[in-house]
Amino acid sequence: MHGSGRMVRSLLEGLLAGSSAQGVADLAVFPPFPYLSQVGSMLSGSHIKWGGQTLNPNPQGAHTGEIDSSMLTDMGCFYVLVGHSERRAIYAESDADVALRFSAALAAGLEPVLCVGETREEREAGLTEAVVSRQLDAVLNQVGMAAFSGATIAYEPVWAIGTGLTATPQQAQSVHAFIRDKLASLDGIIASQIRILYGGSVNGSNAADLFAQSDIDGGLVGGASLEAEDFLAIYNAVA
Ligand code: 13P
Repeated sequence: MHGSGRMVRSLLEGLLAGSSAQGVADLAVFPPFPYLSQVGSMLSGSHIKWGGQTLNPNPQGAHTGEIDSSMLTDMGCFYVLVGHSERRAIYAESDADVALRFSAALAAGLEPVLCVGETREEREAGLTEAVVSRQLDAVLNQVGMAAFSGATIAYEPVWAIGTGLTATPQQAQSVHAFIRDKLASLDGIIASQIRILYGGSVNGSNAADLFAQSDIDGGLVGGASLEAEDFLAIYNAVA
């Protein structure tokens, strides 16, 4: 819940100028819903894709205040986030809700970016893998492993989001490897191809070390995505 029309314009102008289709990484933005139309007009035909921050899994109907998958595809979205920790914690999205949203996104031809991750208390209790596993299983049981060929996963330890505390590259790599191994036990090819992003206080200074890890395929960036210069420092760290 950041931004304004003016901020979106200046951010996208900066990103378009500082990145390219032949660049070091794929780039996408996930603006708040009111800016999707503006983002679509500015990025249409460019190398940068865009997506929604959540979706309601129901078909269009009497759900005042909600946004369904067809509205996102109508706005040119390629992606949609599902299960972001703030949706889970503040808006009470359960594992089952997240699975329904993931399924609705796929059915509409959107690529879901499934966010998983443990709280500080869960990590301290040694429950990181159990929590991530439970969050993945809720979706796997709903849609099956084959559906993950059209998805991205984002590991976002809740204690690292917006706190300035980043998981060390080794902490993040360990969970990423756990996720990939778990998926590989179901389908080795999909597991080797799926992108697993890390999110949680990624910035221009820590991105290169994170992205150097073998199972970290990119970042899901919050605070450092609000200014083009900061976001581009992360983009360029991929190189
Ligand atoms: P920060 O990069 O601000 O920690 O946010 C991460 C995040 O949740 C992105 O969705």
